[in-house]
Amino acid sequence: MQSINSEIQKNKNAFQTVLPNQMVTAVMLLDEKLTIQYLNPAAEALLVKSLNTLYQQPLEDVFRTTTIKKDRYLQLLSSGQEFNDGDVTIEFFDLSQITVDLTASSIEFNNAPHILLEFKQIDQQKQISAEAFQQQQWESARDLIRGLAHEIKNPLGGLRGAAQLLNNEISIEQQEYTAMIIEQADRLTNLVDRLLGPNQLPNMAFQNVHVVLEKVNQLISFNNPKGIKLLRDYDPSIPDIEFDEDKLQQAVLNIVNNAIQAISSDNTITLRTRIASNQTINGKRIKLGVQISIIDDGPGIPSHLQDTIFYPMVSGSSSGTGLGLSICQTLIHQHQGKLLCSSRPGRTEFSILLPILGDNV
Ligand SMILES: Nc1ncnc2c1ncn2[C@@H]1O[C@H](COP(=O)(O)OP(=O)(O)OP(=O)(O)O)[C@@H](O)[C@H]1O
Ligand SMILES: [Mg+2]
Repeated sequence: MQSINSEIQKNKNAFQTVLPNQMVTAVMLLDEKLTIQYLNPAAEALLVKSLNTLYQQPLEDVFRTTTIKKDRYLQLLSSGQEFNDGDVTIEFFDLSQITVDLTASSIEFNNAPHILLEFKQIDQQKQISAEAFQQQQWESARDLIRGLAHEIKNPLGGLRGAAQLLNNEISIEQQEYTAMIIEQADRLTNLVDRLLGPNQLPNMAFQNVHVVLEKVNQLISFNNPKGIKLLRDYDPSIPDIEFDEDKLQQAVLNIVNNAIQAISSDNTITLRTRIASNQTINGKRIKLGVQISIIDDGPGIPSHLQDTIFYPMVSGSSSGTGLGLSICQTLIHQHQGKLLCSSRPGRTEFSILLPILGDNV
């Protein structure tokens, strides 16, 4: 008993030197056999168990089930590639559950490779109401713009028609002026059309989402002056689902283009697909869905834009119109899906969640 206590104390001390500030996030350290070597106090609180109780326990004896398979941890040890899953449900042996955002990375500890797990508990209710609030804001911004756009478009059509008629009545020199009116009216109509967003109904067909991602990958490779690396991390077992190929491609391409604009040549973009279970979309429970994530390791979305990036005309770039993400939002809505974003310096993730219809409650 004495020796175990001193081992635990040794690990506590050693861990403090590795990550001295790691006190707010719940952190768990696993060795190569996936047994628990250390928990910080936040993790003890999250798991409602002490380090003394869980020390040297295999992970699978603590988590009854999780959405993350053991293989992924082993793969992390062999490849060193860290992963982050935004919505991991962990069930304990007393059948209680928590939902966390989990990041797993490899770390050298006591001269041996270890796995560091960081847990951020997601209070589901809070998440749902934040989503509902965001949705409401987005809908009222969209309605306002629709109303305004129609008000602008009607007189603009009249203005253009009148200039055209006038054009036939006046001298060649004066036609310079009518040409300018027509050109500017066309430019405004174009802007208003973009503001209104996609208005055609989606042309749905059963197909594989990877086809779209591969097309995006190909399009990017044709025009990638910064030479940015695009990684693909697909789950090949994802079934065909119903979606409009062009619209989904446009949505993914907009998001990837944003990432390309934000990052530099030594950064990476990852296209990831996963099956997502037990999600909510617009307050509706979805048993199964397909999650497409576009992740980059660039500087992140400027904090003053984070709450409004899905609104039309919000842009962090001088050359952008700020319509890309608002259009994406409309496109994904047309599929009864949802578009989410989480961003911090070094990691920005946009995820598109599409329901697998027929399988949902
Ligand atoms: N991956 C990302 N990393 C950092 N910032 C991002 C990322 N994606 C989006 N942004 C920020 O969000 C803003 C809004 O993006 P959005 O696509 O809506 O408009 P835009 O790219 O500025 O213009 P448009 O797409 O209409 O040409 C961007 O200007 C950028 O500041
Ligand atoms: Mg854009």
